[in-house]
Amino acid sequence: MDDQNIKTQVREHYASIARDALAGTRDSCCAPADNNASSCCAPTNVISADAIALPTDIVNTSLGCGTPLEIARVQPGETVLDLGSGGGLDCLYAAKLVGASGRVVGVDMTPDMITLANANAKKVGATNVEFRLGELENLPVDAASVDVIISNCVVNLAPDKDRVFRQAFRVLKPGGRVAISDIVTRAPLPDALRSNLASWASCVSGAIPETEYADKLRAAGFVGVEKVSGGENLTEPVYSAKFIARKPENT
Ligand SMILES: C[S@@+](CC[C@H](N)C(=O)[O-])C[C@H]1O[C@@H](n2cnc3c(N)ncnc32)[C@H](O)[C@@H]1O
Repeated sequence: MDDQNIKTQVREHYASIARDALAGTRDSCCAPADNNASSCCAPTNVISADAIALPTDIVNTSLGCGTPLEIARVQPGETVLDLGSGGGLDCLYAAKLVGASGRVVGVDMTPDMITLANANAKKVGATNVEFRLGELENLPVDAASVDVIISNCVVNLAPDKDRVFRQAFRVLKPGGRVAISDIVTRAPLPDALRSNLASWASCVSGAIPETEYADKLRAAGFVGVEKVSGGENLTEPVYSAKFIARKPENT
């Protein structure tokens, strides 16, 4: 399977969800639609609208599998980068946490998702958040410019995870940190499943064992790599897990 084919499939899948959300033709991005049987959704893991004081219709655009901001310890004035920002929910929540003196940047490779995220930001009048069209493998972000990277159910979709983590390392300031929620597996998936193009977009085929995931973060240069939660239910072969890591001070 060619990496570009995977990305095209993933982009088309999420473009269709974004267009439906913009048209108001689905109650929740996680709700199955005829042309879109499944996604990277674990809606029960997503934080409530009340808790973050954002409108329910924006919270419903979430396609995440957790809330990385719960473990990111974001402080007022910081710069936050969201890898694969989708409809922008985590960015808008981060925008509240960093306040007027901070900044949030979301990067996503799907133009319709950028349109949806901008529409959501406008709806709540957020002025300290910006969405950039781009790929995680080639981040449109300056080196050493970010305090905190978050990501919610995205890296599993990337065929070249090593490159994504190297890019994340590049754009973080020394001492900067990473908080990720993502789909991982207990053991390597069978080849037949890994080569199933249709299930890449629904966050299955691209998922890798949690130990390999942590090793890839270390290989990119991160230290303090730790799985914070996930996989406690031993019967689940594929599950959502949260990881933290940081870039050493002296880099
Ligand atoms: C499952 S959705 C999650 C969106 C968002 N993080 C959330 O929690 O709602 C995955 C998003 O990642 C984006 N994406 C997937 N692979 C990407 C890549 N290689 N570079 C940039 N964006 C990517 C997709 O366009 C989609 O918007």
